[in-house]
Amino acid sequence: MAHEPQIAPAADLAKSVLVPAEAYVSPEYARAEQDRLWRKVWLQAGRVEDLVATGDFITYDIGPDSVVIVRTGPDSLRAHHNVCPHRGRRLVDTPPGARNAQGQARGFICGYHGWSFGLDGANTHVPQEDDWQGALCNGRADLTPVRVDTWGGWIWISLDPEGESLEAYLGVLPEMLDPYRLQDMRARWRKWIVFECNWKVAMEAFCETYHVATTHPEFNAFGQFRGWARQEGLHSHIGYETAKDREEDAGKLRVGTGDARLSTAEMQRFTWENANTNTTMTMVRAAERLAQELPEGTPPAQVSAHWIAASRRDDAARGVDWPVVAPAHTAKAGTAWQVFPNFQIGQAVNNMLCYAARPYGSDPDRCIFEAAVYELYPEGEAPETAWTYTEPHEWPPVLQQDFGNMAAVQQGMKSAGFRGAQPNPYMERAVASLHTNLARYMQAGMPEAQD
Ligand code: FES
Ligand SMILES: [Fe+2]
Repeated sequence: MAHEPQIAPAADLAKSVLVPAEAYVSPEYARAEQDRLWRKVWLQAGRVEDLVATGDFITYDIGPDSVVIVRTGPDSLRAHHNVCPHRGRRLVDTPPGARNAQGQARGFICGYHGWSFGLDGANTHVPQEDDWQGALCNGRADLTPVRVDTWGGWIWISLDPEGESLEAYLGVLPEMLDPYRLQDMRARWRKWIVFECNWKVAMEAFCETYHVATTHPEFNAFGQFRGWARQEGLHSHIGYETAKDREEDAGKLRVGTGDARLSTAEMQRFTWENANTNTTMTMVRAAERLAQELPEGTPPAQVSAHWIAASRRDDAARGVDWPVVAPAHTAKAGTAWQVFPNFQIGQAVNNMLCYAARPYGSDPDRCIFEAAVYELYPEGEAPETAWTYTEPHEWPPVLQQDFGNMAAVQQGMKSAGFRGAQPNPYMERAVASLHTNLARYMQAGMPEAQD
């Protein structure tokens, strides 16, 4: 990695570590993140399908930095710093209350003095240009480029002109997630909100399964699912343990305990109504038919296989073809990937749930949190969705339970009595992984081994 620090080597994440609170609460740390972290990493900045026609653009803000991403042709995207090179006006304004700007343009015109730019960022007009006596040459009047690339159906940007390629940055992610054809999925809903907590607190509420039994006790009725977490370089992932004969169950398409026909239907209905994630209507309906289609006493593995095959068939009949992912790959990939530093992809063969969190300005105590749920749709039938600011009580109830911990964690971490976080070395290793990698970029805050 380009930012090898002069700090202690990472502890063994399979053992107990102490994560200092500074990374969550310190204003100095939050300010330093802009230069050391956000301006160095690759960031997920939007979906490719948000930019359909040449001239379609979106903006993406990360702290005080803002970027305009624009389609310049059928196969080409460009990204520019969203700032006019004349006297620094933000080039494209975000409408009040909106998550980001979006629109269609043939070029960009600065609203202050009228400097104009092509979609490629090159200056096309400076009023009274002769007054500069030829000095606006060598790109001085052009927008500053930002690196942009795509993977998984997302647009990724890097503010670091010298940084590594997206491919190098992503490491094993394409190998592990390309089989799920995430680029074919389209959003069912996309919501965002500003939380009273650090962006790490928000991300960490979703990167482990340890909290499920306590924060979401209703799920206990469907059985206990023990989850693991592993580090893969910059990134990490989580999954559920499964019995050897139930490897296809290792994904999110799981049956419950008891009479698996009934518990699967119950769990699916509950999940659809209370989380509106991790399943699709096709799967809910197929689960509700299990009791008619299978005799009592059908072993859980067969219930699961029948349910998944029926769902796959029902979707195929309406023109939705799920990719085929080998059970061994599902077991290895797990259920969700934490893409360093601030994006999580919860993948399945027919849907996904993604979370992201960014700082709100440079305030360590606030963040912009967003969640989006995607699934496969028949060609041309994906709904039009927009990022919708959504108050806490309007989110699915299960997510509200997660939200209930966030501000309270942020407050608790400021206590003089808090000695640092002690993530579960097995189930919450993604937390330790995030801080180990953060420490390398930030040159501070390395988790310490606790023997
Ligand atoms: S600041 Fe943009 S044209 Fe003057
Ligand atoms: Fe949760």
